[in-house]
Amino acid sequence: DKGGWSSFMAKEVSEEPDAVANTLRGRVRDGHVVIPELDGMDELFTNVSRIIVIACGTAAYAGLVGKYALEQWTRIPVDVELAHEFRYRDPVLDPGTLVVSISQSGETMDTLMAVKYARERGAKTLSICNTQGATIPRESDAIVYTHAGPEVAVASTKAFVAQITALYLLGLHIARVRGWARSGTEESMQVLELEAIPGKIARILEREQERIEQLAHWMADTRSVLFLGRHVGYPIALEGALKLKELAYIHAEGFAAGELKHGPIALIEPGQPVFVIVPSPRASADMHKKVVSSIQEIRARGARVIAIAEEGDVAVLPFADEVLRIPLAEPLFEPLLAVVPLHIFAMALATAKGLDVDQPRNLAKSVTVE
Ligand code: BG6
Repeated sequence: DKGGWSSFMAKEVSEEPDAVANTLRGRVRDGHVVIPELDGMDELFTNVSRIIVIACGTAAYAGLVGKYALEQWTRIPVDVELAHEFRYRDPVLDPGTLVVSISQSGETMDTLMAVKYARERGAKTLSICNTQGATIPRESDAIVYTHAGPEVAVASTKAFVAQITALYLLGLHIARVRGWARSGTEESMQVLELEAIPGKIARILEREQERIEQLAHWMADTRSVLFLGRHVGYPIALEGALKLKELAYIHAEGFAAGELKHGPIALIEPGQPVFVIVPSPRASADMHKKVVSSIQEIRARGARVIAIAEEGDVAVLPFADEVLRIPLAEPLFEPLLAVVPLHIFAMALATAKGLDVDQPRNLAKSVTVE
């Protein structure tokens, strides 16, 4: 039931705040992360020397976001790999390897086969999944469910923010078990940040949705859109491009902003729309300055720049054609906010083109063949 919304996807994007809140529910107490499903796994988390995240599509981008937080908090090296690539390359696996799979459906065959492969070769497996009792969690040693609620639209939206939330909870849990040099206060600071995310997403939906829809309307004839991001904004650029391909059938590519001068800048010609996810200057003044200078470079070549920047960041104003605002958050948490305008944009552009956003051509919600 669409509950009065024009599409399941519109409904599901509006549920992004709840997807995060429900994934957190019952898992934070007095500033600490509590995940009862992981009771009895302390020894494994203490001894693990490496984490490999495997997934496909949007779920793999959630994994790429999670890598930054997991490495920062746990100091365990994290690799993120597409499930179908992982199992055909003779990966190095041992009992010190924890393979974390991410899947909304829990039925994606590529991911399932990779989990089985990892298990057979002695790795421990943990599944982050949105569907109770699905095959992938049943084949895994441990499960952390996301509680995004049923996702009907083929392209994943609310499950994506729930997956990042679950990865962050997992990261904070492992960090505490390992007694890493992070004090309890630091853990509670991160928990507070997580708990503030639903309200901040709701604010973006409230304040920016209409403007993004208007922007999409103006851009209905666009043939190609580029997305640039840096650090945690990089996987968000990839996700923004994927959503636009899936929903609006437009050529779209995401790049690491620092890579611009090593190739993609050749694509910039007058009128080329480019979304740029601008990192907070509070994260790193240097990184912020570099992204702003990337904006200047593409603008000088005629690009039409749509910046996604935190409230109060005025440095982008002289160079961007449009600035979409996200509330302030600690840098690691910005992806949970920056992705929201991109989900709205892809949906709005597909709608402006008269396309069915819930059932894009050639795609299936859960791909149960390899
Ligand atoms: C795809 C879906 O084919 O499978 C994507 O269209 C999704 O939206 C991907 O990200 C992975 O699916 P799952 O269920 O494993 O998260």
